[in-house]
Amino acid sequence: MGFEEKVKKNKNTIYVPDIARITRIEYLSPTEKVFKIVFDDEEIKNKFEFKPGQFVELTVFGLGEAPFSIVSNPTNKDFFKLCIRNVGNISSALHRMVEGTKIGIRGPFGNGYFPCQKMKNHNVLLIAGGLGIAPLMSLIRYILHYREDYKEIMVVYGAVNPGSILFKNEIQYWSNRGDISLCLSVDNPDNKWTGEIGVCTKLIPRVDFPSNDTYITVCGPPIMYRYVIDELEKKKFKPENIYLSLERRMECGVGKCNHCHIGDKLVCVDGPVFNLWEIRNLKEAL
Ligand code: FES
Repeated sequence: MGFEEKVKKNKNTIYVPDIARITRIEYLSPTEKVFKIVFDDEEIKNKFEFKPGQFVELTVFGLGEAPFSIVSNPTNKDFFKLCIRNVGNISSALHRMVEGTKIGIRGPFGNGYFPCQKMKNHNVLLIAGGLGIAPLMSLIRYILHYREDYKEIMVVYGAVNPGSILFKNEIQYWSNRGDISLCLSVDNPDNKWTGEIGVCTKLIPRVDFPSNDTYITVCGPPIMYRYVIDELEKKKFKPENIYLSLERRMECGVGKCNHCHIGDKLVCVDGPVFNLWEIRNLKEAL
């Protein structure tokens, strides 16, 4: 019995992936690519829905699976996209793949996601460091899709150098729109760089959104969180309005293996997005 037949036969288990296909691969940087994915089965494709901040488990057949955040706009129903950095076995296998390759998908997972409904009629500040822009992309694309539902929007994004800035074309598009503010910063500029220099945390004091009318989302390397939170607290933003996407070593994605626990929370089930109020007393969370 081939793998696909086995998959069809065992459809009731949460560990069995659905068969999908990589239909397009976009080069973003020397280490990141975006994969556009379409389910083979029309019914599965139609049923698949996700919220900004959720993730899927992607299977490379014969090798294993790994979790990845969804970066596309949830309003696109025919496909979804993942931004994948070439850092491990699964991701490097994916980076060697060509368009048309079959993969497996489980998910979407995560009961904690960015609360785009609550954010309506408020300002939204999105803070990203490095690859942390990826989990925020789905939210930014959603908010821009329903732009009139939100007040001011600002993206603060820091990268190591100009070459490592991801989604450059989209950032250019945002800057042309004129209805979203952008603050880009790099640690190591080249001689063409005209933006800010240094860690993106330094840009937060300039944000003049009112603390009682603003939702904030943060995603980046673990070291960034404490500094960002310090700056946000100085500006008196409410902890319950600050949402952080946490990355932990995830395996099963469904609350069974316990690899992703922080205190009494499981990142895969309770997160991966938490508000600061929920996790501020959990050791190791930040
Ligand atoms: S990834 Fe297995 S419990 Fe969270």
